[in-house]
Amino acid sequence: MQSILITGGCGFIGSNFVRAALSTLASTRLVVLDSLTYAGNPMNLVGLESDERLRFVKGDILDASLLEALFSEEEFDTVVNFAAESHVDRSILEPGGFVRTNVLGTQSLIDAARRHWTPVGETCREGVRFLQVSTDEVFGSLGETGLFHEATPYDPHSPYSASKAAADHLVRAAFHTHGLPTLITNCSNNYGPYQFPEKLIPLVIRNAREGHAIPVYGDGKNVRDWLYVTDHCSAILEVLARGAIGGTYCVGGNCERRNLDVVETICDLIDEISESASAPRRDLITFVTDRPGHDRRYAIDSGKIARELGWRPTVDFDEGIRRTVHWYLANDPWIEAIIDGSYREFYDRFYGNR
Ligand code: NAD
Ligand code: DAU
Repeated sequence: MQSILITGGCGFIGSNFVRAALSTLASTRLVVLDSLTYAGNPMNLVGLESDERLRFVKGDILDASLLEALFSEEEFDTVVNFAAESHVDRSILEPGGFVRTNVLGTQSLIDAARRHWTPVGETCREGVRFLQVSTDEVFGSLGETGLFHEATPYDPHSPYSASKAAADHLVRAAFHTHGLPTLITNCSNNYGPYQFPEKLIPLVIRNAREGHAIPVYGDGKNVRDWLYVTDHCSAILEVLARGAIGGTYCVGGNCERRNLDVVETICDLIDEISESASAPRRDLITFVTDRPGHDRRYAIDSGKIARELGWRPTVDFDEGIRRTVHWYLANDPWIEAIIDGSYREFYDRFYGNR
């Protein structure tokens, strides 16, 4: 890989991926394209400002003329599409934005890649790759047993997962119809540094620290398969390097936890680490009305990526959640700055002139 377009690189997983790629791919140029929605935060790239291999461009993946200019200037051989609206609760309130970015945005990127890599009447340029970062939510919900795998039929239940499923289908269509060398990863729930505090784990850490009620949806027995974010990034790097073109790879942590157990673990860790509160943080747990269409259980069979590419998660949940809690407690100003929007000053200082 010589030149990678990383869309959504100021978000949670995208920014962790930028760090992983800079430390793994010595001479590769990285261009982050991000429109900086509420979830996109250039402060997530703090410390990388002086790295000449990294360029940041504020822009929308739906902007065809911007994509055209970037593909011409940078001659990308790789696209990794993280850009998305990613929060299920928001998709229930406002599905339109999810269709716009997740579906139309993905097609806009496919169109740009096709124009540059597979001109009409010519075969595709050698060595190029288009990787779509997708989710296990496209498969719907599991019962008490079973695991999602690459051949599980799609059965999305929320506007978010439906929009991600649609995007996956468009990527597959680009492979079959137009010969675009595509790859798809379907990953389980990520956690770790730089996640916007609307998602379960950072939200619980923040509320527990501040003594606010901790909302647990329904009976708290929904199950998610948790993967530390750097393990997801290493999976993507492996798939880019050696994945079979046109293929999909399921990526999971082999780490099923009920939501209530995750929340209680975080409360106990904060009790242990921080100065003592007047009562145990578990007392803040409040059961609230369930999320509509709330999927009961997700769990991934990562057998294919383990067998074919030798990838396995390296950070177990006890270690990962401890690291994550410590990171959030130590990075209070980061959390508050992204919530109140003052990080934009950072953007102006470090990226405004590029
Ligand atoms: P995030 O919400 O933290 O980040 C998304 C980023 O995309 C933000 O920086 C945002 O500004 C940017 N963006 C949004 N719309 C854009 C547009 N139109 N043009 C350019 N940039 C835009 O999301 P995340 O949790 O980092 O997820 C990244 C990807 O991974 C998503 O595609 C998501 O579906 C997928 N995924 C996430 C998880 C998870 O647990 N978080 C698990 C599996 C897959
Ligand atoms: O499975 C992969 C998906 O994981 C990604 O595709 C999504 O982008 C990502 O947001 C995540 O989706 P979830 O809906 O599973 O994540 P969230 O953190 O919103 O919720 C995790 C679980 O916790 C879910 O069962 C709902 C529950 N929950 C969530 C919040 C925010 C609560 O009980 N209380 C809360 O306040």
